[in-house]
Amino acid sequence: MLFSLPKLLCTAALLCGAAHARLTNYTLDDTSPAITYTATPLIRCAPGTCDAAWTARLFNRTSSTTNAYVVVPFTGSAVYAYLSMLGTCMFELDGVVTGAYAHSNASDADEIQPAYWTTGLPDTAHVLTIYPAQAGEVLQLDYIVYTHDAPARKVHLGAIIGGVLGGVALTAVLSLVAFFSRRHEKQRKLATRGIPLGTTGPTGRC
Ligand SMILES: *[C@@H]1O[C@H](CO)[C@@H](O)[C@H](O)[C@H]1NC(C)=O
Ligand SMILES: *[C@@H]1O[C@H](CO)[C@@H](O)[C@H](O)[C@H]1NC(C)=O
Repeated sequence: MLFSLPKLLCTAALLCGAAHARLTNYTLDDTSPAITYTATPLIRCAPGTCDAAWTARLFNRTSSTTNAYVVVPFTGSAVYAYLSMLGTCMFELDGVVTGAYAHSNASDADEIQPAYWTTGLPDTAHVLTIYPAQAGEVLQLDYIVYTHDAPARKVHLGAIIGGVLGGVALTAVLSLVAFFSRRHEKQRKLATRGIPLGTTGPTGRC
């Protein structure tokens, strides 16, 4: 037999296990259309509008400074926010406050830091909201990273399922062929008892 069913399922299970762990990080720049600023940012840093030495240190050379809410919808199991803050900013995940980031050292207030992260979420749609804790405080958003199971996995899984089903079908066909050819052979032996094997008659060319 060409295929062994248990072996085939085992291989598929291993491949599925490996594919399942293929998490991918996606980065949203502060300029991404996926991010909503409830008020127009006070400063939009980009080469030409902010100091070149500073923009060189930013993700994609841009940042957005705001004193209002920043709303970031994403689909994933983890999210990381990179920003700078002088004062305190709050983080809400799906409408619940899940974090705060305070920075009081004015001398390095501009430094972009991983100010917030959360992992182990269900890999579904979420909304991260970021805002300064008090009026008059501003935050400078550089970028957001979120982790999502790579979409390629679904295609991969489909291919595996297709492969397994194909293998099962082929196994079934081969079994049937084997069964019928054995039965045919038995009947042929019974019908041609006495005639040596190998003589298949005048038409036995193939
Ligand atoms: C995604 O990025 C975060 C933060 O940089 C990192 O800790 C995590 O390991 C990354 N995950 C993947 C799957 O690359
Ligand atoms: C980086 O900025 C350019 C415009 O300067 C934009 O076209 C591009 O989409 C940005 N890349 C990312 C990853 O946001």
